[in-house]
Amino acid sequence: MTVPDLQRYKRDKKKVIVVTAYDALFARILEEAGIEAILVGDSLGVVVQGRPNTLSVTMEDMLYHTRLVAGAAQKALVIGDMPFMSYQAAREDALRNAGRLLQAGAHAVKLEGGAAILDRVDAMTRVGIPVIGHLGMTPQSVHQYGGYKVQGKGKDQARALLADAKALEEAGAVAMVLEAIPAPLARTITEQVSIPTIGIGAGPHCDGQVLVLYDLLGLFDDFVPKFVKPYAHLKADALQALRRYKEEVEQGKFPGESESYH
Ligand code: KIV
Repeated sequence: MTVPDLQRYKRDKKKVIVVTAYDALFARILEEAGIEAILVGDSLGVVVQGRPNTLSVTMEDMLYHTRLVAGAAQKALVIGDMPFMSYQAAREDALRNAGRLLQAGAHAVKLEGGAAILDRVDAMTRVGIPVIGHLGMTPQSVHQYGGYKVQGKGKDQARALLADAKALEEAGAVAMVLEAIPAPLARTITEQVSIPTIGIGAGPHCDGQVLVLYDLLGLFDDFVPKFVKPYAHLKADALQALRRYKEEVEQGKFPGESESYH
């Protein structure tokens, strides 16, 4: 998948399916499963680094994981997430850091926010860096919300979100993530912008969907939002496997004949 394909998918009403990955192994598994777009999300702060939120993720972290994923992915569109404070303080920082993510192998960058970051989106677009916006419950603003809460519920908030979506499109964004907003609002935004909307907790009417890999696989259960559907229960499988391994070593059953050299 390429950046121009995103527009084609919207035109052809073909869903854009995105999953996060943070390493080469899972990037390969995602591609084998036919996933065409991989987001190296700053969610790695929570699911890989074990932090309570994404705020402590650094550019160095994102560059490292983007390199791992981009180095393994053969065909997928690789999206590099811009971490907190890599684009908020100054436009020059934003441009430079977005460029570094592309140098690490990303094909596009994602950043959170609407009106406040339009000049960044415009500047990146002008120099050929494809930008994916992120509106709604933007996790880097978690403290402003007082927790991970659904956004865009009242009329004023909904109007502001729709305006942000249109402004992002006008500034040159090639797609946008809509996170944790009411499904009817996501539908309205999807109908009123010409770039694809990629939903997470934004209902079924978006042009595509994204999920955090470890949520989708049932590996991460510290906090499971309503919008997550675990398609597997890998944490339970891992626990069972590890307990069996421990038991078999303790009982002298492993290694057996077939795992021993003679
Ligand atoms: O960091 C991330 O994984 C994300 C998705 C939840 C959209 O931003």
